[in-house]
Amino acid sequence: MKRKDFFKKGLGAAVATTFLPQPWLLGETLSDSNPVDVNPSLNPNLTTDESASVDEFTAYKQLENPLSSDWALVRKEFDINPNLTFLNNGTMGITPAPVLKALNSAFSHAAHEAAYPHADGSLEKSIAQLTGVDESEIAITKNVSEGVNLACWAMNLKAGDEVLITKHEHVGGCAPWLFRAKTEGIRLKVVELGSNANTTLANFMAAATPATKAMAIPHIPCTIGQVLPVKELCSWAKSKGIITAVDGAHPLGMLAFNIKEIGCDYYSGCLHKWVLGPLGTGWFYASKEILAGSSIRHVAAYSIDKFDMSTTPPSMGELANKTGRYSYGTFSGPLHSGAKTALKFYQHLGPGAVETRVKYLSSLVYYQLLCLNQSNTSKSMASANPKIKSATKKLPTINPITPSLNDWLRFVFGNQSWIPTSALSVSGITANSGIATTLSNQAIQQWANTHQKSSVLDILTPYESQSRGAQIGFRISPNKQPSLSQKFCDFARSKGMILRYVGENNIDCVRVSTHYYNHEEEIKTFISYLRDFFQQEQLG
Ligand SMILES: Cc1ncc(COP(=O)(O)O)c(C=O)c1O
Repeated sequence: MKRKDFFKKGLGAAVATTFLPQPWLLGETLSDSNPVDVNPSLNPNLTTDESASVDEFTAYKQLENPLSSDWALVRKEFDINPNLTFLNNGTMGITPAPVLKALNSAFSHAAHEAAYPHADGSLEKSIAQLTGVDESEIAITKNVSEGVNLACWAMNLKAGDEVLITKHEHVGGCAPWLFRAKTEGIRLKVVELGSNANTTLANFMAAATPATKAMAIPHIPCTIGQVLPVKELCSWAKSKGIITAVDGAHPLGMLAFNIKEIGCDYYSGCLHKWVLGPLGTGWFYASKEILAGSSIRHVAAYSIDKFDMSTTPPSMGELANKTGRYSYGTFSGPLHSGAKTALKFYQHLGPGAVETRVKYLSSLVYYQLLCLNQSNTSKSMASANPKIKSATKKLPTINPITPSLNDWLRFVFGNQSWIPTSALSVSGITANSGIATTLSNQAIQQWANTHQKSSVLDILTPYESQSRGAQIGFRISPNKQPSLSQKFCDFARSKGMILRYVGENNIDCVRVSTHYYNHEEEIKTFISYLRDFFQQEQLG
């Protein structure tokens, strides 16, 4: 079905009938702005909003059920090469058709009309609305690395001051901190993540000393996708006078969250991962309260409210009283257009609906890995012990306490109305044993605990719902060298499946990222490749 037909089909009453005039298309041309007014956003007449109209996505509103077949229609907006299975959204998001359209038309318009981009604040506003902050607290950046740098250099730290950080940093999340440690003598204290939210919090608490002045943590690390208890961590840090900077490369577009509830001082995000915006678009939050005491190293248009080079000496006014002071100079208007469209698309699908969908898909991955571990454990026990071998032959199932998929989903999500009465109705995914049981949460928890690790596969992401988003990390045969996790990623790639191998910081794991456009069949394929690989390597 074509996108247009989908709109005509009109899920619910929603049909795209109204197209707002698009100011970008109304012929804005290059103009001299007042040379003293260095911030064009102060001039409302220069507003440009060439991104998709709000009405255009209304048809997608109804997808609260993560199993809805309408997700397949949404996927049609993604022109993914049919020979590829993309399970690496954590590295970059796939650009959907409406975003490509906005980009193309904005780039064409810029060239055709010699249209210079002027910030109208609408991109900041969309991000602020989605993250629960004031638009004056958002600056637009190129990427997360830029935001992490802004936060790091904004803090007034001296030699000997300690910064709490984790082993699970992306290089973009830790490089400026490492550099300040090397050049200025601040001390980085690397804290281990716990196997659940409480342990993680306890680890940070135990690591702090009176010299701890800052905490730089990922909301969701790029390594194993564990969602950190950022709210609890920041609340504790605040009580100790510790300044907090959160690397938020992953949450926006994956989970619904509110920065004010988290209570951090700085937060750095991007739009080119889970929001599915254009590559090279990011954002940075500094709270109103922290802004006044924050250092700034790059000062340009957007950073100051006025300047005059004709006075003696030349003069400037004040730093702009908003986080936007950290943005400077000409920016790519067309990229911003694409980003705005991506945010609108996301908003119309609904952050809550997207979160449920991606968590549902990652739960399927998790469940299948646990089942794989269970069957591997049983097989290796059987091969080691002839008695068990003959016993397992007689049994219809390898382990009678395998929860049905239905049980598992209820365990992870609670009694949601969308969970099917029969697990087997979920396309392509069934329990290994194929038996549906109704187990208590306690039994399922015990089952998950027992099968999180086997001799061949160690699932590193905690299964507790609070600590899991859309990414699962696991290690294959931890003690074998060279890395079998890396070999599996190469194996999958040779078959057209893109995963992320995490080799940095000796983490050595495979990361599977499932966004809402992925589907059950792709997860099934992923598991079948894993089984094939185990067979090839004679594992289990
Ligand atoms: C947790 C985390 N932080 C920082 C970055 C760097 O992001 P960017 O490439 O947008 O600078 C990434 C990129 O994958 C990441 O996953």
